[in-house]
Amino acid sequence: MRNNITIGKNIFRNKETAIIFKDADRLRHMYMLGKTGVGKSTVFQNMCLQDILNQHGVCFIDPHGESINWLLGRIPKNRLEDVVLFDPSDMECSFGLNLLDASENFEKDFLVAQTIEIFYKLFDPEKTGIIGPQFEHWLRCAALTVMAGPDGGSLIEIPKLFMDKHFEAKKRKYLKDPMVIDFWTKQLANTSDFHKSEMLNYFTSKFGHFMNNALMRNIIGQRKSAFNFDQILDQGKILLVDLSKGKIGEINAQMLGLIFVSKLQAAVLKRANIAPEKRYPFYLYVDEFQNLITDTFASLLSESRKYGLGVHLTNQYFAQLPEKIQNAILGNIGTMVAFEVGIEDAERLSKEFYPMTKEDFLNLPRFNFYIKLMIDGKTSEAFSGVSLPPQEETNPDNPKAIRLISKLAYAVPKKLADEQMRNYIR
Ligand SMILES: Nc1ncnc2c1ncn2[C@@H]1O[C@H](COP(=O)(O)OP(=O)(O)O)[C@@H](O)[C@H]1O
Ligand SMILES: [Mg+2]
Repeated sequence: MRNNITIGKNIFRNKETAIIFKDADRLRHMYMLGKTGVGKSTVFQNMCLQDILNQHGVCFIDPHGESINWLLGRIPKNRLEDVVLFDPSDMECSFGLNLLDASENFEKDFLVAQTIEIFYKLFDPEKTGIIGPQFEHWLRCAALTVMAGPDGGSLIEIPKLFMDKHFEAKKRKYLKDPMVIDFWTKQLANTSDFHKSEMLNYFTSKFGHFMNNALMRNIIGQRKSAFNFDQILDQGKILLVDLSKGKIGEINAQMLGLIFVSKLQAAVLKRANIAPEKRYPFYLYVDEFQNLITDTFASLLSESRKYGLGVHLTNQYFAQLPEKIQNAILGNIGTMVAFEVGIEDAERLSKEFYPMTKEDFLNLPRFNFYIKLMIDGKTSEAFSGVSLPPQEETNPDNPKAIRLISKLAYAVPKKLADEQMRNYIR
């Protein structure tokens, strides 16, 4: 298997040299910054296509859907079977994506912690106190209860837990965690109905949006996810996530993106159980990532290397990212690419990219960048590069065929999903 890929080319005194990103260095990740239209998505598309041609597992999370269509038109025949395409905008059927389905205890705890982080990210990104420790505790205990037992459960079943005594009893039978048992037997038993319903209202006011939207409910409410994320990693699949906001709405796109990143992360951490030589490299691309990454993810970047995950992130300007994530990115990322940016970012970058100056970043022509490239574990001095033009389309019939195949293989017909949801919510 080959891992080395080309990011772009360097031109020095009329001599062109390919900028090669080596396998081991890719596990130290890549971050790319630049104004809209400078060629960022194209760089990721070209890189991801090389990974696909090199027989690797990849995931591309695409906020517009255009990069995915582009990739689909270029996937070679021998990899068609590896493609797993998630398209939430489909009206006839739904791909299940249950944040809370987990096979191991540590995974349960991890996903519940992620659930709480997702709530913060969606409803209180600056952590101003809208979501407090008490709500966190309730949500943690409720989520762990919903997940208990052989059938598991999803986020949309949480309100039912507080409204349906029979369902509550059925779930509580399976609990083993003393903290969660105490929550039901001691804490909740001593909580007034008024306070209970207040908490429940709080949950549904935040979460109601997803529960009342049939499209979202049918996706996040299914107990079993359509994809097994462990297999996607270990069998080197091509997971393409189409989150076109225009089709499904911004907050829905954000929610789904956050769930994908959380599920992938859980699968990566599970690789602790397999031998290091079997942790085949897997490459994740997140375009316009600012809304899809939680604090945990950013800080896990340093660890994900040992599990064979190489992460590629891009966005338009630093101020889109919370301070904590900015620092985690700058601290943990091996390779940085910067296209033309605005004045604030130019100032910051000139400090990171010595000897480049603020003016250098303000005056970059389209498709031109500066890069600090990790080479054999060491980050190079900054140098200049030009990106590669988009590669020619090779298989124009692919997109339609792949969309259909993925739907048949992974999605549930809408009618069936509607019926399941009625049972889970009632
Ligand atoms: N190196 C290149 N040479 C020629 N055209 C390019 C190159 N890189 C990108 N493009 C084109 O420029 C446009 C903007 O690129 P895109 O990657 O979408 O930018 P961004 O993601 O930064 O907004 C697209 O139409 C793309 O096909
Ligand atoms: Mg783009």
